[in-house]
Amino acid sequence: RYRDPGAGDKMDPFAEQEEWENYQSGKANLKFGSKDKKQASADYQYVFEDGVDFIKESIMDGVNYNAEMPSENPDDSIAKTAFHKLQEERKTLPIYPYREELLRAVQTHQVIVIVGETGSGKTTQIPQYLHEAGYTKRGQVGCTQPRRVAAMSVAARVSQEMGVKLGHEVGYSIRFEDCTSEKTIMKYMTDGMLLREFLSEPDLASYSVIMVDEAHERTLSTDILFGLVKDICRFRKDLKLLISSATLDALKFSDYFDSAPIFTIPGRRYPVEIHYTTAPEADYIDAAIVTVLQIHVTQPPGDILVFLTGQEEIETVDEILKHRTRGLGTKIAELIICPIYANLPTELQAKIFEPTPEGARKVVLATNIAETSLTIDGIKYVVDPGFCKIKSFNPRTGMESLLVNPISRASARQRAGRSGRTGPGKCFRLYTAYNFQNDLDENTVPEIQRTNLANVVLTLKSLGINDLVNFDFMDPPPSEALLKALEQLYALNALNSRGELTKTGRRMAEFPLDPMLSKMIVASEKYKCSEEVISIASMLSVGNSIFYRPKDKQVHADNAKMNFHTGNVGDHIALLNVYHVYNSWKETNYSTQWCYENYIQVRSMKRGRDIRDQLEGLLERVEIEPTSNLSDLDAVKKAITSGFFHHSAKLQKTGAYKTVKNPQTVLPRWVIYHELVLTTKEYMRQVTELKPEWLIEIAPHFYQLKDVEDAATKKLPRGKGMAAD
Ligand code: CDP
Ligand code: MG
Repeated sequence: RYRDPGAGDKMDPFAEQEEWENYQSGKANLKFGSKDKKQASADYQYVFEDGVDFIKESIMDGVNYNAEMPSENPDDSIAKTAFHKLQEERKTLPIYPYREELLRAVQTHQVIVIVGETGSGKTTQIPQYLHEAGYTKRGQVGCTQPRRVAAMSVAARVSQEMGVKLGHEVGYSIRFEDCTSEKTIMKYMTDGMLLREFLSEPDLASYSVIMVDEAHERTLSTDILFGLVKDICRFRKDLKLLISSATLDALKFSDYFDSAPIFTIPGRRYPVEIHYTTAPEADYIDAAIVTVLQIHVTQPPGDILVFLTGQEEIETVDEILKHRTRGLGTKIAELIICPIYANLPTELQAKIFEPTPEGARKVVLATNIAETSLTIDGIKYVVDPGFCKIKSFNPRTGMESLLVNPISRASARQRAGRSGRTGPGKCFRLYTAYNFQNDLDENTVPEIQRTNLANVVLTLKSLGINDLVNFDFMDPPPSEALLKALEQLYALNALNSRGELTKTGRRMAEFPLDPMLSKMIVASEKYKCSEEVISIASMLSVGNSIFYRPKDKQVHADNAKMNFHTGNVGDHIALLNVYHVYNSWKETNYSTQWCYENYIQVRSMKRGRDIRDQLEGLLERVEIEPTSNLSDLDAVKKAITSGFFHHSAKLQKTGAYKTVKNPQTVLPRWVIYHELVLTTKEYMRQVTELKPEWLIEIAPHFYQLKDVEDAATKKLPRGKGMAAD
């Protein structure tokens, strides 16, 4: 039973009896209970048959929320150009009154920790203030973001505010996409990109200021950056370092940076009402959808923000919401659905920032990206299922997984706070108050303590940092994980037995890819198939979005996909086939028509092509000849195996594994896979059969004859004996 928590009986959108009846008899998927409607209207606002029950808790987790009057709006009656309007908007941000004070602090201190509520203007304003104060005359102002989307969208916003073209004075740099030029003086980038810049410029000489933004996120790259920038500050006294964070956990940053002063921007926050479910929800996706609809039909205007765990979930919810609201026709106000996640193409991202038209309501379906990195104005309701995808790594088995996990209490508070930025808000938690208090951890474990470190270890080694145990980590990674990374890099021949970088390792470090992928590329030299291997590497780097499979055309889509698998070549070669056919349309500007006919995403292919161009450039840099060896697919597979021999799997006696979308008629016995996906079950993604003897040929230090001998009872080496899905 759903009881509108605050609004009493006043806001009945179906005031007319007739409308109410229409609504009930309509095609709507949104169902009302079978209760007598008179009773329903007396007792309940709306009764959803499968509704979600909430109880209200107005004091938010013991945090005292001061409602403040919003500052006076600038006079809008005078018509202003968009630019001037933006300038006025800038002045309304909470950070604005502290501009001078902040600049004075930066002048006086080399390192400052800045704390301010999300939306106060840290990311967009501070670099501009620094520019206005002349810091860009001495070098670039660099600002790191944990996420690609945030780097891009913030750069776009700042270029607008400055009235310049994106990529000129203001630009961004993310992996495989550099939108900067010689003019660029303010550069937004992912933390991973700044980390890579150390390789070519170890003292960051071209920067006058580095702002490590969203420091509270504690991503792996941010944590490594902390150690590196702290070190640079010792010998580059002219470099200014700003560490900015949305949470109050700033003391830790201050301690780490030798008691750097903390600059706090007083926030503007409105009270947020928290609603918990009365009982745990079995299906949070369904509960989220129902809650959105409940809010939509019962609550006053204001946009909704729903936190989901990933692209797939967002697409599912998007589809179901569209379907259900379509069924309701004009009976309800328009619901504008805006997805936002890291891989969403830039042109579609802009949609979430567009103002909601009068009479309509926007629902933003977001990943964790909306927790702190992105600020969306107009949000009044937050739906928080309490989950996020979190990477974790088992150092014992060396297996990495991306699993849906409960969020921390800190995250839950942050999410709730998103609803109270511009006025009082409501947060609907799809879990119970008991769950919140007893089942959630207080803070999220920093990524460095739960991830595969092979990539950063390789980067650090190539920066000449050999003593990793004594590296100045804010929170050191488990020594087991460091050891595992060293072991893996040694097995890949990136390090020698003394832990020093080899020539192979040096070449691998040039590629902005996981060590296994870069090893596969470096190995392609030996097998004379570098052209094929970089095509495969770029297709793999695009992610899992090459093929699409519309619900109503699954058979067609699967058949189209099978065409690329002719000869049972395996997923890697199938990707190569896709790339080849796509590339054969080069002369005619790459056929979109062909992509449609084959259920291939045009966008993904375009991105794959961009990535490939860059990998081609990097091949040249590490002096690997572009060679093609299409007639010998085994050579290509051997190159793949050289990088991915850690990821081998053997068919177990009991079960056939099958990849979800690629049912094989002849089951291979040994395979190599690109990644292991752990959801409710484990399954392998991108699988190719290999000959077990290759493992011994290619990785004799890792596999022995007895490991691959065809004895049904034999287990895989090193605990990898898994039969997937
Ligand atoms: O970094 P912080 O969370 O403190 O705030 P910000 O990202 O600088 O955002 C300040 C304001 O800029 C937001 O409240 C939005 O109104 C606006 N903004 C925007 O409209 N579009 C963006 N892509 C980013 C910010
Ligand atoms: Mg920010």
